[in-house]
Parts: sequence; structure tokens; C-alpha cells
Amino acid sequence: MSRIAYVNGQYVRHDGAAVHIEDRGYQFADGVYEVIAVHGGRLVDEEGHLDRLAFSLSELEIDWPVAPAALRVILRQVIRRNGVANGIVYIQVTRGVAPRDHAFPADTDSALVVTARRKKPLDRATAERGVSVITIPDIRWKRRDIKSISLLPNVLGKQQAVRAGAFEAWMYDAEDRISEGTSSNAWIVTAGGELVTRQADHAILNGITRRAVLRIAAEQGLTLVERPFTRDEVRQAREAFVTSTTSFVRPVIRMDGAAIGDGRAGELSLRLLDYYFDHMRAQDAAP
Ligand code: PDD
Repeated sequence: MSRIAYVNGQYVRHDGAAVHIEDRGYQFADGVYEVIAVHGGRLVDEEGHLDRLAFSLSELEIDWPVAPAALRVILRQVIRRNGVANGIVYIQVTRGVAPRDHAFPADTDSALVVTARRKKPLDRATAERGVSVITIPDIRWKRRDIKSISLLPNVLGKQQAVRAGAFEAWMYDAEDRISEGTSSNAWIVTAGGELVTRQADHAILNGITRRAVLRIAAEQGLTLVERPFTRDEVRQAREAFVTSTTSFVRPVIRMDGAAIGDGRAGELSLRLLDYYFDHMRAQDAAP
């Protein structure tokens, strides 16, 4: 089956899919995106992702390229045409194609690309092995709540992690507080058993997985605190984990080479992963 992409109104072969050289996404990173997990052929938390897309577009004053209802149809078409049962769908909206000039162009339609690909979902056995993170200074702009395609600091950070043999890079600010990972949110469980993740303000992307895990934790009656935590607190923590569309809830067992807690995937982290699996399965049953 050859891969199919949706590009500005047409379903085209993925290997030949292209946008114009003066697409503002290409020249200015003037655009936003979403990544939605597909599980058992269903979109996971579609509502939350489309709401966040609406927020990102509105913050940057980019028009919807198609109506939200049409986008939902396109997502399903791209998933179906690519035969994706488990994987991800990627949505990118840019301000469109116009002669290069920094200010917004007049009368330019925003541009839409949707792709999908199969991806083996994280399984529990893999999660149980845990992953390591390194820490790096957070050099990004101050509106990380917008899911902008301008990801150069994230790209450089992830590459540093890869070179260090780590899964993720956690970024810290001038006060040594962790904001988030390059493509995931960061969490710890303190020695006292509190579940801590940074509050959703301009400093982080408010992950859809983060929101689901917050809801699950509240339902389970866990002690939950949304506040920044420092690297020192991670060193003292009992457990740590990341959340994202593709990582679900993934235990972190080392930071900068040192073990976190007893150096094994945390019990609470794995319990939250199990609840998150339930959350994904519950959507399979939805109409
Ligand atoms: N990344 N923080 C950052 C900087 C991210 O890029 C992401 C997602 C998250 C987690 O958000 P969510 O739970 O909604 O996936 C947090 C996606 C998966 C990506 O760029 O591929």
C-alpha cells in the first residue's frame, strides 16, 4: 500500500507530496501542528487536540484552513487510506504561501498538510525498562503553550539526548526548574508520594496526555501538585516519568547518569500507564 498525504485539498502520493517554496512554514516556521495517536483505528483525545489546534491558530491569528468538521473527515480519510490501525496522524497548518515578507500577507489562505503513519505503540514490558534523560538549558521563546512548528531548540536538545544515549532532554530555566522535555511533559513523584508536574502557563506546552493523566490521577485520589520542580528535586524524587502522545506514560530511571529513586521504573508511574492504556481502550469502544 503506497502512503497517501493530504496537501491543500488533495490526497496525493506521500513520496511526491510537496508544498510551495514560499510556504511561510518553510521560510518563517510560521505555523502550528498537532500529533494525535491512533489506537485500534481510533483517534485518541481528538477533541482535546482539535481544541488546542484552535488555540494555537487563534494565538497566531492564522485562519482555519478548512472547517473543524471537514478536518475531522480528512483525518479519518488519511488514516484509512494509509491503513493505520496503530500509529500517529500529523496535522500542520501554516499561514500559507506568499512572497517573503515578515508581516502577515493579505488575502492568503492558510495551508494544511495531514499525514499518517503506522507506529508500534509503547508496550508495558518496554515501559518497565525505563528511560534516561539528560538536562539542558531551556533556550526557547516565551510562548511554549503555542504548538508552533518552530522547533529548533527542541531538535537540538533531542539530538543532544540521542548523542548521550538518552531518550529525552529535560530543559531547565535560570532558577534550575525543569520546564518540560523537548517533546514531552515532565513529572516526578516526591519522596512523600506527591505527584508533581509544572503548571500549564506560557512556559510549557499543555500536553493532551498531561491533561488526561491529571484527570486520571484526580479520579484515583492521588495527591497532585501543579508547580515547577528543580533538578535537585528530581535527584531526591522517588519516581519520574514523561507523558506525550507517543510516549503515553513512560518511566524515567536516570537523569544525567544518576539513578532516580531505586533506579527502576516507578510503581506509581506504571500504575498511571495502566490507567492510560484503559483510557485509550475506552475510546476504542466509543461510537
Ligand atoms: N510532542 N511538550 C512538548 C514540547 C511537546 O512537543 C509535546 C508533544 C508535549 C506533550 O504533548 P501531548 O501530550 O499533547 O503529545 C509536551 C509531540 C508528540 C511531537 O512533537 O511529536
